[in-house]
Amino acid sequence: MERNFKTILVTGGAGFIGSHVVRLLVNQYPACKIINLDKLTYAGNMENLADISTKPNYTFIKGDINDAPFVAGIFEKYAVPAVVHLAAESHVDRSISNPTEFAVTNVIGTINLLNAARNYWKDNRDTLFYQISTDEVYGSLGSSGFFTEQTAYSPRSPYSASKASADHFVRAYHHTYGLPVVISNCSNNYGSYQFPEKLIPLAIHNIKSNKPVPVYGTGENIRDWLYVEDHAAAINLILHNGEAGSTYNIGGFNEWKNIDLIRLLCRIMDKKLNRPAGSSEKLITFVKDRAGHDMLYAIDSSKIKNELGWSPTLQFEQGLEKTVDWYLANEKWLLGITSGEYQKYYREQYEKR
Ligand code: NAD
Ligand code: DAU
Repeated sequence: MERNFKTILVTGGAGFIGSHVVRLLVNQYPACKIINLDKLTYAGNMENLADISTKPNYTFIKGDINDAPFVAGIFEKYAVPAVVHLAAESHVDRSISNPTEFAVTNVIGTINLLNAARNYWKDNRDTLFYQISTDEVYGSLGSSGFFTEQTAYSPRSPYSASKASADHFVRAYHHTYGLPVVISNCSNNYGSYQFPEKLIPLAIHNIKSNKPVPVYGTGENIRDWLYVEDHAAAINLILHNGEAGSTYNIGGFNEWKNIDLIRLLCRIMDKKLNRPAGSSEKLITFVKDRAGHDMLYAIDSSKIKNELGWSPTLQFEQGLEKTVDWYLANEKWLLGITSGEYQKYYREQYEKR
């Protein structure tokens, strides 16, 4: 049975994936009020939603998911029946330097939201708490294989430990209090509006600026890449049709070694920037590995395909080319982010490596 909500609260909607989710929901459900609650940390950016910010069914609220009375007030004021929870600290390298911040936002922040939902919803089961999680909670595969929904959690970075802990609380609220919940675990997203601390936008930005492209370790680590709009479409489907109490894996069946991905990106950049073939590849620089760097993530997304009919729509090379085009056409957005505070982050992260 399809759910039909009058109001949806999205947390972290000014971030990368959240902005795509908000845009999709605002455009596809004009009769539904979409509320975006975001603290606007370094990763949140109002410009990510400039194109839909004046739509009548969209409301932005600046606030912290850890401010419990404030969050409770939002549930009361807007009679919130559904939450899509994306707000988080999302970058693995930052979690290695500052694990506590990840516990506070990702674990305690999620518990605060669960409490607000539980207190406001009471026994109303026409509600849903949707936790957006990651494939990283499953740990690292050996040399092959796939994570399924039955794979045991084995998080290995402070980031994935915080997401795994939050997921356990979400399931615990379902089992203990009967809260209607759903969780999806997705692989690496790429596309427009991604903060250039993450591999693909960082590499695009550096190639464009003729700066070294840092590849951690030997570049043999493998990630499964999914175009962000395909993820947003899967989230929409699960929100409206997913089974309460269930987990869904979302991925692209698209595993790439980091070094092969970067070489492909270099070829695309040479073409787009009219540079001689091979010039971007010369920027590749192998740097000290990430501590505890997981080797292989690969998602088996058969369940969402078989039960809800979702599949990725874009081939990787197509998606990557679209992504490069977007970053090249949105220089102002990229410059806005990469000036100021970002420079300090970049120096600390890379210049000592
Ligand atoms: P992001 O870092 O781009 O955005 C996070 C957003 O959360 C920002 O807008 C930030 O301002 C907001 N936020 C942070 N702390 C907050 C707080 N205390 N209160 C309110 N808002 C707060 O992250 P992303 O890459 O878009 O990831 C979104 C979610 O999806 C995260 O939960 C992440 O774990 C999950 N995820 C990401 C990926 C990926 O490849 N990026 C893959 C799978 C799952
Ligand atoms: O798998 C899903 C996860 O994907 C999400 O849960 C996280 O929020 C998201 O940040 C992402 O985590 P990763 O650590 O996989 O993404 P990142 O872009 O940081 O790194 C991708 C790979 O590239 C990883 O193996 C580390 C490597 N890397 C990364 C950077 C930033 C480099 O080689 N060089 C770099 O400069």
